[in-house]
Amino acid sequence: MKVWTSLSLLLGSQVAAAPPKCPSYTDYSADPHEPYSLGKYRIPSMRPPLECRTFTNPTVERIIRNANSVITDPDWRQLFANIFPNTLDTTVAWHDSNDTEPYTFLVTGDITAQWIRDSANQVLPYIPYTDRDNDLARLVLGLINMQAEQLVGYPFGNAFQPPSRSGLTPADNGIAVDLVVDPPFDNKTVFEAKFELDSFASFFQVSTAYWRATGDFQFMYSKSWSNAMAKVLATIQRLQEPTFTNKHQFVRPLLQYSRLTYSATETQFGGGIGNPVRYTGMAKTLFRPSDDATTFPFLVPANAFLSVELSNLNYMLSTIGVYSEQAEQAKRLASEIRQGVFQYGTTLHPKYGRVFAYETDGFGSALVMDDANGPALLSLPYLGFVNASDPIYQSTRRMILSPDDNPWYFTGPYINGIGSPHTGFLKVWPMAVAMRGMTSDNKTEIKECLDQLKASTSGLGLMHESVSIYKPAEYTRSWFAWCNSLVSQFVLDAINKFPGII
Ligand SMILES: *[C@@H]1O[C@H](CO)[C@@H](O)[C@H](O)[C@H]1NC(C)=O
Ligand SMILES: *[C@@H]1O[C@H](CO)[C@@H](O)[C@H](O)[C@H]1NC(C)=O
Ligand SMILES: *[C@@H]1O[C@H](CO)[C@@H](O)[C@H](O)[C@H]1NC(C)=O
Ligand SMILES: *[C@@H]1O[C@H](CO)[C@@H](O)[C@H](O)[C@H]1NC(C)=O
Repeated sequence: MKVWTSLSLLLGSQVAAAPPKCPSYTDYSADPHEPYSLGKYRIPSMRPPLECRTFTNPTVERIIRNANSVITDPDWRQLFANIFPNTLDTTVAWHDSNDTEPYTFLVTGDITAQWIRDSANQVLPYIPYTDRDNDLARLVLGLINMQAEQLVGYPFGNAFQPPSRSGLTPADNGIAVDLVVDPPFDNKTVFEAKFELDSFASFFQVSTAYWRATGDFQFMYSKSWSNAMAKVLATIQRLQEPTFTNKHQFVRPLLQYSRLTYSATETQFGGGIGNPVRYTGMAKTLFRPSDDATTFPFLVPANAFLSVELSNLNYMLSTIGVYSEQAEQAKRLASEIRQGVFQYGTTLHPKYGRVFAYETDGFGSALVMDDANGPALLSLPYLGFVNASDPIYQSTRRMILSPDDNPWYFTGPYINGIGSPHTGFLKVWPMAVAMRGMTSDNKTEIKECLDQLKASTSGLGLMHESVSIYKPAEYTRSWFAWCNSLVSQFVLDAINKFPGII
């Protein structure tokens, strides 16, 4: 990994100029470091040495101290102190803290590339504190500016290379030879060209959440933000198009992605255009938030998330009184998509009755499952699409948390939860365990989720991408910033709802 060595080139005010002796965090996170907590799991201290942290911030340190004064479990005290600052400690690969237009490039963890969805989720736990900390606010604002620039350049990318002005070396995506992608992309700026609908929702989510927290809306006047917003809205409209007109004429699709591969989830049906769809109001996507191909193009949780964020966008634009045409467009799309989800995104299950499907096509086909990666069906109340008490959500939840009825739910001796075709059978994603807890009001269930997460780190004191249900030592990704941020949110939420729970 080149992150650490390249950091020495950086001059931003809070970004540490990492001396070359700083270890690669990919290596650092794969070994435990002293001191250990005094609890059952002996959780190690996984924050990099102070001089190797990529962004330091007093507000974040204060939140860690405050949390540690109310958490009594020594393992959780150490674990929270590791995971809450992980994005700041390790992933701020580049930050231009310019007063008028800051930029922030946040790596996902063990790959020097920025995912739109991951980076939004990485900063979500810090956004509530941006109103009282200008440095933290500029870090998030920098991310919004960076995402806008990326989406204007190529709206169909899921992950992007560092901008050339950062001086960082682009990551090798090494798959260019056998790839057929339309519209074409430049691999110097785009790391991966998989179109994932939730990337659009994430861009709006971080923009509107930042505005709500700080009241700052200057970013909306930048050329790249306004162009990105308009381009994304126009694209969503095109993605609602059916595959055939009423007269059964083929409608040329907007996107194509196919490649030569042994893995079915790395390419798309129909020579790269995806399975056919009818008009439903929902928008198509070629890939899921796991970066796996969709089976049917209407990915229901991604559409649900998008409809929520389009409403939020409409609210922000109309409150400020700017871009009235786009505000109206966002409102209309939000409502068409929401209606589409309820009309064409559910299915009648023999055991559970009406449930949300994971994917549909408008012809009546439905894929019944849930994947750990958010947006997922499990996360619908967290995303703000329905209340947790919604009857269709409750039936869906019982179904996807059942090993008999969700093919990707697994139960083992120390962890039970949802996994993903991305990592294969008998692996649970800690991310889905946290999401289960965050969408529950049941103290026992929440405590079980916390206990399972604590048991999942295989003595490494950080959240993994996935763990074997038999032993946490069989895991994927020792450095996965998104999950560290998400579990931090869960912990803060849980100790707020049930003081003394850990
Ligand atoms: C900040 O960025 C603006 C616009 O790119 C530029 O004109 C200005 O010189 C920069 N300011 C500093 C202090 O670097
Ligand atoms: C971009 O693609 C070219 C071949 O098309 C390849 O030689 C090069 O290594 C790729 N660059 C990166 C950063 O992956
Ligand atoms: C959740 O319930 C509240 C109170 O009944 C209601 O005001 C709100 O609109 C509901 N939210 C959603 C997303 O349905
Ligand atoms: C709360 O969760 C526990 C553990 O998952 C479960 O056994 C119990 O039935 C739940 N209680 C309610 C009221 O749903």
